[in-house]
Amino acid sequence: MPALIDPFGRRIDYLRLSVTDRCNLRCGYCRPAGPAPGGESGPPALSDDEVLAAVRAAVSAGISKVRITGGEPLLRPDLPRLVRRLASLPGLADLSLTTNGLLLAGMARALRAAGLGRVNVSLDTLVPERLREIAGAGHPGTVMTGIRAALAEGLSPVKVNVVVMAGINDSEVPDFVRLTREMPVHVRFIELMPVGEAGASAMGRRVPLDDIRRRCGPLEPLAPGGEPSGFGPAEYVRSPGCLGTIGFISALSRGFCGRCNRLRLTSQGRLVSCLAGEEGLDLAPLLGAGDKGGLAEAFRRAAEMKPLRHRMAEGACRPREAVMCSMGG
Ligand code: 5AD
Ligand code: SF4
Repeated sequence: MPALIDPFGRRIDYLRLSVTDRCNLRCGYCRPAGPAPGGESGPPALSDDEVLAAVRAAVSAGISKVRITGGEPLLRPDLPRLVRRLASLPGLADLSLTTNGLLLAGMARALRAAGLGRVNVSLDTLVPERLREIAGAGHPGTVMTGIRAALAEGLSPVKVNVVVMAGINDSEVPDFVRLTREMPVHVRFIELMPVGEAGASAMGRRVPLDDIRRRCGPLEPLAPGGEPSGFGPAEYVRSPGCLGTIGFISALSRGFCGRCNRLRLTSQGRLVSCLAGEEGLDLAPLLGAGDKGGLAEAFRRAAEMKPLRHRMAEGACRPREAVMCSMGG
């Protein structure tokens, strides 16, 4: 397989694939007000065949790991069928998914059987009323049932993403640490990022990483090789005696661009070089024309377009089209 190397020598082998911009939650930092950019119903912008064609081209250009995201990917009609087709692509070594977990309990078995490797579950609070405040709906108990189902089906490792917000859920950091004592899950605390208008307007709630870390209590480094498998920007530690680990993801306090390995394909078929970037390549015309060579070339061009680092701190990160809910984080 050819290697896809960007102008700064980073190996680009990971694709975040948004399969829908619909969502059954409304997390304030993620979604712009109003309906999803692609509408709340109707068929997805890209058909299964088009998604397959795009991923096949990505693999031929050097991508070997794919994470399915949304919106909420489990809302895509017949997702297990798409997962089965993706999982059988030669050259695709790792297939994972990020979900808000509300529908996971009912789908974990089918997804595992279809060839999904592992899941990340977004859950910002363990307090029912608070989830309604943060996300407009849902119950943490439903999500926890989904997490248990994923573990039972062998979708491993299971990671739990917690976006920490001052005055909303920052008091729950120790409770999430405790979760890693009771269950073999990997909790990742995420610092708010000003991506899109919704992210930018939530920034008053950002809790810097050092504050989050202080709230965790005693932490120790992992034994060499003890990190949960994955290819993302988290730095991992553990709380002594716990089954799972604690990870930290910070775009602003630390900056993860030096290790960036990824491209993003939005639910609308835009190939995006950087989470915070405005640039993107529209794959739709190439998909429509069945232009395999052009698609693979688009992945190479998108890697070429990657910036050295995001400029979130300078406020340059409000992509008009590639908002979080079409891009899936
Ligand atoms: N800042 C930080 N994290 C975000 N996510 C979505 N929007 C933001 C934001 N503005 C997270 C979600 C999910 C992951 C895919 O991205 O909570 O866990
Ligand atoms: Fe939905 Fe995820 Fe965005 Fe929350 S963060 S609104 S769960 S897509």
